[in-house]
Amino acid sequence: MTIRLTWKRLFLGLGGLALGGLFVIWIGIFNIGATGGHWAITDWLLHGAMRSSVRTYSLLVETPPPLADRALQARGAGHYAEGCAPCHGAPGEPQNPAMRRSTPPPPDFSRGIDDWGSKELFRIVQHGVRFTGMPGWIVPERHDEVWAMVAFLEAIPRLSPEEYRRLSAGEMAGKPLGGEGFEGLLSDCARCHNADGLGRDGAAFPRLAGQSEAYLLHALRAFASGERASAMMRLPTERLDEAEMRALASHYAALPWSPAPQNFPAEQLALGERIAREGLPAAQVPSCLSCHGAEARARNPAWPRLDGQHAPYLENQLALFRNGQRREPVMRTIGDRLTEEQASAVAAWFAASSGASQGR
Ligand code: HEC
Ligand code: HEC
Ligand code: HEC
Repeated sequence: MTIRLTWKRLFLGLGGLALGGLFVIWIGIFNIGATGGHWAITDWLLHGAMRSSVRTYSLLVETPPPLADRALQARGAGHYAEGCAPCHGAPGEPQNPAMRRSTPPPPDFSRGIDDWGSKELFRIVQHGVRFTGMPGWIVPERHDEVWAMVAFLEAIPRLSPEEYRRLSAGEMAGKPLGGEGFEGLLSDCARCHNADGLGRDGAAFPRLAGQSEAYLLHALRAFASGERASAMMRLPTERLDEAEMRALASHYAALPWSPAPQNFPAEQLALGERIAREGLPAAQVPSCLSCHGAEARARNPAWPRLDGQHAPYLENQLALFRNGQRREPVMRTIGDRLTEEQASAVAAWFAASSGASQGR
């Protein structure tokens, strides 16, 4: 006997299958226990689905910045050590055996990492992988942070255990981290900002030494609450209480500031100086020094100093103000009115200037 396939029969058939499936789930035969691992077919489906989804969505990802940059890799590594290594291991630090037994197990990166393209890694790190425990980036809009992580992931296969410790913990490599009391807190900050508060690996981390105490406190509160959106600073601050934040702000404000030698082309510095001192009246940009100069800071101690800060950090913060990821209203407006060229010139001038020459 042959059955003619009509639309009606097709729909009835599919409907029956769906009901049957629901029935199987309802009576509870389907085993959601994780002890036996996934069936080969589930594994194949999940993995295949993940690979195709990552491949497709990565087509929408923007062109990467230069990922061989040491500062970018160090920033990624610093966050990796706390945010990812507990699940994935790291060079010289094999994965925790309990992790290997979860379903599906996180791949162990101490043994290398699959050959994904940069944009594919970006997509995985930004959004995570559903049904697997692989979390997305806490602040997926911070593309600059996700790229720093991708830069580090691409460097993993070439890193010896020693190099990994240096890249992820700087001068704290091999020293005990965390621990009790204020020293324990400081050791965590020092992994990235260095014990002297001047940062490490070029412009990987902003300088905190000698910064205004009121501003530092304000920044720590803003990171902890998520008002200032950064996955990298969210982890170190979310566990701090008010007293600890105050102690940290006062500690870093009291450390000696020292200018870092930084070189920029003369015409860029000239443009930057003009903007810093006079603003851009036609574009309604006020003079930066009217708030960021030494006298202005004496008037309002919550205004941050910019002199001697790393240029790439300043430039990136101006971009974050421009695209609204950093939300302080005055600086949002100013960020919006500067072109990229003007922002990088004024960042360069502040980076190269020493506080003494900032009078108006
Ligand atoms: C709670 C554990 C957990 C944490 C924390 C975690 N991951 Fe994962 N990750 C996973 C699991 C599980 C998978 C496997 C997904 C799969 O099988 O499709 C995975 C997959 C990945 C992959 C794809 C690797 C491959 O070859 O399939 C990358 C890349 C990755 N994680 C990077 C990261 C980064 C970077 C971080 C930190 C920001 C991180 N993960 C944090 C559990 C975790
Ligand atoms: C994993 C690396 C890492 C650790 C650990 C870390 N920081 Fe940061 N910190 C960063 C990065 C990256 C930024 C830049 C954030 C951004 O771009 O939004 C930053 C920014 C800051 C800022 C803002 C500076 C400014 O000029 O606005 C302060 C203040 C700060 N960190 C203090 C601390 C303190 C205090 C600790 C220890 C409790 C700490 N950080 C631990 C990486 C780290
Ligand atoms: C009316 C006062 C005012 C003026 C004028 C001003 N700023 Fe700001 N700026 C601020 C305040 C307040 C903050 C702190 C914002 C916050 O808490 O997020 C800030 C923060 C910044 C930061 C981030 C610093 C850090 O450590 O993260 C940069 C970069 C910056 N300003 C650059 C500039 C530049 C460049 C100009 C001139 C074109 C300028 N500002 C003019 C008030 C001002």
